[in-house]
This record gives sequence, C-alpha cells and structure tokens, in this order.
Amino acid sequence: MPTRRTVLLTGGATLLAAGGGYMLTRGPDHDAATAALRTPRDPAHFIGLVHYATLAENSHNAQAWRFRETDGGVAILPDLSRALPAADGDHHHLYASLGCAAENLMLAAGSSGRAAAFDFVAEGDGQVAIALAAGGRPDPLFDAVPARQCSRSDYDGRAVPAADLAALEAAARVEGAEVMLITDPAMIAQVLDLILTANTAQVSDPAFTAELKSWLRFNARAAIATGDGLYSAASGSPALPDALGRFMFDRFFTVSAENARYARQVRSSAGLAVIHSDHDTPAHWVQAGRACQRFALQATALGIRHAHLNQPVERTETRPQLQTLLGLGHRRPDLVLRFGYGPGMPRSLRRPVAAVIDARV
Ligand SMILES: Cc1cc2nc3c(=O)[nH]c(=O)nc-3n(C[C@H](O)[C@H](O)[C@H](O)COP(=O)(O)O)c2cc1C
Repeated sequence: MPTRRTVLLTGGATLLAAGGGYMLTRGPDHDAATAALRTPRDPAHFIGLVHYATLAENSHNAQAWRFRETDGGVAILPDLSRALPAADGDHHHLYASLGCAAENLMLAAGSSGRAAAFDFVAEGDGQVAIALAAGGRPDPLFDAVPARQCSRSDYDGRAVPAADLAALEAAARVEGAEVMLITDPAMIAQVLDLILTANTAQVSDPAFTAELKSWLRFNARAAIATGDGLYSAASGSPALPDALGRFMFDRFFTVSAENARYARQVRSSAGLAVIHSDHDTPAHWVQAGRACQRFALQATALGIRHAHLNQPVERTETRPQLQTLLGLGHRRPDLVLRFGYGPGMPRSLRRPVAAVIDARV
C-alpha cells in the first residue's frame, strides 16, 4: 500500500502477538505467487503482451484495466468498476495507469520484433489503441519490466550521479509529457510541505480512508485471494489477520504518524520527480502514465528505487500551488515520486491475465 496508506503498527504488542501465524510478512505461498508472476511469457502472443502490461504501476493496485485483441493490435480499456472515487474522483490516475500498462505492452511487443504505434481514442470512456506491425526493435527497458516495483522503504540519502539523472529525464520524455527532477534540498523541502498539507487533508477525510481500507490486503492470504490491492508487507507493515488489520488501521492510521513517515522518507531520498504534461485531458493523463512507467523502468535498470507521493496532485487545493512552485505555467503536474537507493520490498500481486481479457469484438 502507499506509505502514507500504511497502518502504523507501533503499539499493541498484545494485539500483534494475537496475529500468530500471520506475523510472517511473506511466506512460501506469497513468494511462489510473486515468482510465478515474474516467469517469462512469450510476448509474441496476445496473452504474453497482456501479462507484461499488467505488471505495470497502477493506482491502489486496483488494476482498473481490460485488454481486447483487435485487428492488428490491442485495445486497453478503462474498467470503471474499479475506479477510486475518493482518491481519484476525476479518473486521472485510472487513465495514467492505462498509460503505464500501454508502455509495458509496447516494450513487450518490441522485444518480439514488432513495432507498436500508440493512439488514444477519446470517444465514450476513452481507450488506448496500440497498433502492431513488423519491424520493431527490443528496448533494454523491457528487461526491467519484471524487476520493477514501487519501493516504499527508507532510502539511504545517497545522491544519484548526473549522468543517471540525465538518463532518467531522457527515458521519461514522451509526446506531451516529461519529468522534472528536483534535487535541490530547499525545493524538496517546499514540495514536502505540500505533500504533508495534502496528506493531512486526505488522512482526515473519512471517504478517502474508507476507500483506502477497502483496498488494503492485511496478509499474504488476502493478497493472494484477490490478486489486487495494497499488500501491507509491501509497505513494511507486519501481516495481520483481516479483522485485526482493520482494527489496527482504525487505531493507528493518523495524520501525525503518516506525516512523520513521509517526511522521513522524503528526507532519505536523493530527489523528487514530478511528471507533468501539456494539457489536463484524459489523453494527456495517459501520456503522463507512459512517462511515469518509463521513468520507473529506467530507474530500475540503473539500480535506483522509486515510490509515489501523489498527495499534492490529488488534492485540488494543493495542485495549483505545486504548479506555481515548480514554475510549470499552464502544464499540469500529474504525478510525484521520490527516488534514491535503498532496499527492495515484498512485491505486490496481480490478477490472472484471464481476469482482464475483454472478449467482446
Ligand atoms: C497513477 C498512479 C498513482 C499512484 N499513487 C500512489 C500513491 O499515491 N502512493 C503510493 O505509495 N503508491 C502509488 N502508486 C503506486 C501503486 O500503488 C503501485 O504501482 C501498485 O500498488 C502496484 O505495485 P508495484 O508498482 O510495486 O507493482 C501509484 C501508481 C500510479 C500508476
């Protein structure tokens, strides 16, 4: 789950003891499930392409996407039954997540020698249309697809070399969206202020916390059963039985605890990355997702960790402040991430490919 969306389990030793066998944060079943997810598939086939697409970043790990084989390509459709009304009322993150999946899918196509052309079709609920043709080339970023994860760990404060920062900027540049990297401590501190302001509003919002709680998976059994959602161990929280996890969330998910965690994690990072786009439209939200996924894959390839901190772009009162602070003019700040060096975390799961195939023609 997002770090800010983590149950702070600082007290309650008795309750923790009651967790018994759930105290293991992973366990053989979860390890097997994550290993199966990373088993190579054949990207020359539709099912293989979809598999790699579903390994993409996506908001709350709700996996609000469906994939349809089309004449000469693949359509990626929004699954609005998995939208997040409280955290993502305008569906910005949902469409950005489609962009993340599209990027993985296009890289997978390239690895099987096919060229992938991207288009966004705005009619109806909108959809990504990927046209496939002969003549593509493998991109080294594809190798990072199975390894990438959002690492919600504390980092070690080391700076990222200038050449690697340049590689991140170059990788994240797509039509209509790009990344701004922030390494100046004074500017990081100002963005952190906005993160904490927005986080305070979110943690204080009953609708937001109720929605978040419904996507939390408090133990490996729950994460495996649904194949979606925010697995507690992926954010460094101990695994707990469902009822105990919900109780602890109600008790310990507080503004002060979450803000302290975010402040510590930002200060441990080498820098912040803000994805921004030309316009505030679903087509550009998708492009922002593509830029984000490419940033994440390039970071992974360079041994650099990353995690999201999207509070200031999710709240309508802080987003314009961030826009002004960063001098973005009319450009929309889409996503905020931190990056740096640090340990990996237990991985999040995905639903089976069969669950996200749209068979309608
Ligand atoms: C549009 C978007 C918004 C996200 N927002 C957050 C966030 O605010 N906090 C966070 O910790 N993770 C956030 N994430 C990361 C997802 O929670 C993560 O990708 C998902 O749980 C799957 O985990 P994985 O990326 O490690 O495979 C976001 C991802 C996307 C694509």
